[in-house]
Amino acid sequence: MPVQLHLSPDPSAVAEDFSRFFFEALKDKDHFTVALSGGSTPKLLFKLWAEQYGTAIDWSKIRFFWGDERCVPPNHEESNYGMTKSLLFNHIDIPEENIHRVIGEADPEAEATRYADEISDNTDSEDGYPVFDLIILGMGGDGHTASIFPHEMELLEVERFCAVATHPESGQKRVILTGPVINRARSVAFLVTGASKVEKVSSILGGAADAKLYPAAHIQPTSGDLHWFLDEAAFQG
Ligand code: 6PG
Repeated sequence: MPVQLHLSPDPSAVAEDFSRFFFEALKDKDHFTVALSGGSTPKLLFKLWAEQYGTAIDWSKIRFFWGDERCVPPNHEESNYGMTKSLLFNHIDIPEENIHRVIGEADPEAEATRYADEISDNTDSEDGYPVFDLIILGMGGDGHTASIFPHEMELLEVERFCAVATHPESGQKRVILTGPVINRARSVAFLVTGASKVEKVSSILGGAADAKLYPAAHIQPTSGDLHWFLDEAAFQG
């Protein structure tokens, strides 16, 4: 299925546009599994959800996971779970058991194995792989996504559901969903904003030869749909 583009004037409008898409997808479902990402646009999104959708949504239908998590404790400023908790979970009515966080303070390899089991126990499956209803992704200026960086392209193909990735500069470990899991999702949505992303977005969406060097270009759901939510700064049409 071709990529579906959603263009908005600025990051706040991207968050609003994506929210409409998300809550529409949720409308007729009794149960919905979503993997969240870190990054700047999700921060806007979670604030918006807490402020505008806090009581309008039956949050108990949703099971939250993460596509990547930094290996730090939950109260650390770099924790994706911690960020989501302070901006969203603290302000909405959601059962604790619906929040499936990566235990960032645990041993990374052991946690990747444990988290894979937690995912398997709480999602649908197909060919032995978990299937998420939706995976939200960002893209870094180097083309990484879900903490799959260009120096670890093999994580796009490993057979494990979760693995340990390493940030190329800081060396920080991260527990991630691997390519085969991301590409089995029913829906994948990139939220990408800002001028620092414009070249990579243009290569990837334009199918340029260098795009294969960027992990984000390899996210092509096998039977699910692929959405890119972009602001004008990130997109050169
Ligand atoms: C993380 C991410 C990461 C992020 C991109 C884009 O936790 O670091 O999940 O993949 O989405 O780096 O981040 P920005 O939206 O802040 O540019």
